[in-house]
Amino acid sequence: MDSKKNSDDPQNQATAVVVDISQVDDPLQKSAERVLPAGETPDIYIPTRGTGATPYTSRSAKKKKLGFLGLISNDIGIDLGTANTLVWVRGEGIVVNEPSVVAIERSTGRPMAVGSAAKEMIGRTPGEIIAIRPLKDGVIADFETSEKLLSDVIHRVVRRRYLMKPRIVISVPSGITEVEKRAVRDSAENAGARDVFLLPEPMAAAIGVGLAVEQPTGLMIIDIGGGTSEIAVIALNGIVTNTSIRIAGDEMSESIITYLKKNFNLLIGELTAEEIKIQIGSAFPMEKELTMEVKGRDLVAGIPKTLKLSSSQVREALQEPIDSIVDAVRESLEKTPPELASDILERGIILTGGGALLRGMEKRLRQETNLPVFVAEDPMTCVVRGCGAALENFQQYSKVMMKSRRD
Ligand SMILES: Nc1ncnc2c1ncn2[C@@H]1O[C@H](COP(=O)(O)OP(=O)(O)OP(=O)(O)O)[C@@H](O)[C@H]1O
Ligand SMILES: [Mg+2]
Repeated sequence: MDSKKNSDDPQNQATAVVVDISQVDDPLQKSAERVLPAGETPDIYIPTRGTGATPYTSRSAKKKKLGFLGLISNDIGIDLGTANTLVWVRGEGIVVNEPSVVAIERSTGRPMAVGSAAKEMIGRTPGEIIAIRPLKDGVIADFETSEKLLSDVIHRVVRRRYLMKPRIVISVPSGITEVEKRAVRDSAENAGARDVFLLPEPMAAAIGVGLAVEQPTGLMIIDIGGGTSEIAVIALNGIVTNTSIRIAGDEMSESIITYLKKNFNLLIGELTAEEIKIQIGSAFPMEKELTMEVKGRDLVAGIPKTLKLSSSQVREALQEPIDSIVDAVRESLEKTPPELASDILERGIILTGGGALLRGMEKRLRQETNLPVFVAEDPMTCVVRGCGAALENFQQYSKVMMKSRRD
């Protein structure tokens, strides 16, 4: 079932959200429609930068439907990612989609900007302001700043509108430690949550894609985010095998920085590296290779320099992190019980997360595994949509969530 007829065309790949789950033989997979109805225009606009075109749902239209219940109780799903934080609100859909960056005034510790505005400051801040990414490798690395980030996004949503504190489902990497779990829970509680439930990221992604996680038939999800790549086989509401590596989009960008430094003595920043990856990065040879002009600082002469970079060079730069992801997928398949392996052979592998948008990622994995591989629809929002779907069907999914406890 070759469902990506046009993906060979680099023109298509450039905008490449390859929407293919409709071709997977699974009738229970339409959750995207539940939270992102087509044709609605948002009446709020929260700017996002670059990477994910996220449809927003209308607040007022949905709020009316919820009536009194909508005023007293609110459920919020949060994907607190290394790169991006997304918030889903019951009856409204995705209302926040912002980079996980906070700009802080050094002397007072006061947050100056959160999200896109803060991300634009990375590598450009005057001494007095620092732009911090508080999550690393999918988990909270800077507790205080994460709390500021969470509190900002929760307050944008909750502000004076509800009588009760929200119940929150937050996705977390499946390999999260107890200490890391506590950090997430405490952050969310301090930021105003009533109850906090943690949902393993691959499970959230699978639910968000609309896959039937409660069935005995196994399915494989690969979520390639900014900090972690999670590979999970899911069946009967549980994660049967799971491989989580702390190599994902961030490492890819870092590899581009290292490559340019080593081969061209050109120093570039984090944001430029990400731009290169998004504009001309690939995991598989393209029919028509692309080029791009890159500006940076010449390390020898110490002055700004421009370089013409080709997509094949970028592919070379990305080789190491991509090989690591491929190895992790192979390892995961080796660990998969044979019955479930045959399910995956039939149903294929679903890719989610921003890394799924890298050109040719699915082709590379298809070539390496001989399995059908599909990119989910709107891959960067699958996890938060999964948190939302889990809240909407709380009873059904309570088994897959962990309620965080004090001790
Ligand atoms: N078109 C694209 N091509 C390649 N990479 C992309 C593209 N768009 C976004 N990315 C990368 O995807 C990553 C962000 O993905 P995502 O939002 O899923 O991560 P996250 O959920 O914040 O991280 P994690 O799940 O690891 O905590 C970034 O590294 C970003 O550079
Ligand atoms: Mg993620």
